[in-house]
Amino acid sequence: MTTTTPTRTAVRRRYLLCPPTYFAVEYSINPWMDPSRPVDAVAALRQWGALCATLRELGHRVETLAPRPRLPDMVFTANGAAVVGGRALIARFRHPQRAPESGFHQAWFSRAGYRPTRAGLPSEGQGDFLPVGARILAGSGPRTSAAAHREAEQVLGRPVVSLALTDPRFYHLDTALAVLSEDQIMYYPPAFSAQSNHVLHLLFPRAILATDADAVALGLNAVSDGLHVILPEAARALTARLHAEGFKPLPLDLPELLKAGGGPKCCALELHPAGGGERQ
Ligand code: ARG
Repeated sequence: MTTTTPTRTAVRRRYLLCPPTYFAVEYSINPWMDPSRPVDAVAALRQWGALCATLRELGHRVETLAPRPRLPDMVFTANGAAVVGGRALIARFRHPQRAPESGFHQAWFSRAGYRPTRAGLPSEGQGDFLPVGARILAGSGPRTSAAAHREAEQVLGRPVVSLALTDPRFYHLDTALAVLSEDQIMYYPPAFSAQSNHVLHLLFPRAILATDADAVALGLNAVSDGLHVILPEAARALTARLHAEGFKPLPLDLPELLKAGGGPKCCALELHPAGGGERQ
């Protein structure tokens, strides 16, 4: 039997990033955050700069959101809004420490020509809402409520598939699942309820499954343009699987930001366009 590796195509994308100028771990709102562990802000900026440079080298457009003092998690722009098909649903953060970020996202999206809607229910943007093909995969758990999925469906205008997150280490969908292309994903089954595993298996029978080691390295917090996949270097099994599936993995470590529970994906909010994007 011969197996052929699928041909993968990069699509030029637009991302919103925010420099970690005021980055720190001053509170703990997820199990990764330990405020007693020192953080090197200069190193964080340098590592973030490498992410920006990589996205630009791949031909993507990088927009920036101005950082604000006293908002140390603002670097994680993907949590500030769910953006699908040119529509934006601004986050309502679960924790008061992050709540003021929403206003800055709202202002940015208004200035950029969107008509952003502010979420009425707790929901944390692309952290928990990932478009794939004609659908949106949505996580419910410590941050986004299941009721917020219905709100997102109305605002974003696409069917939402609800997935329940069950392990506090994987508190956003983008810590446990990554969209690789219009029809392929990778995920960590133990992070989801039995029912959600069933749904994922039905929708994506050929998905790439992450090992424990991949998942605890936050290997699923990956940015894919359909061909190149930026992910933490320690996610070795995932990297090998991506190669075998015709993707081009690009290892990139953000060790300072990992101390806050974040990786490449949560630093890059994809401004998912109304059309299909530009093939390269
Ligand atoms: N400290 C941030 C928080 O807990 C990290 C967010 C990272 N985002 C992500 N999608 N993993 O909100």
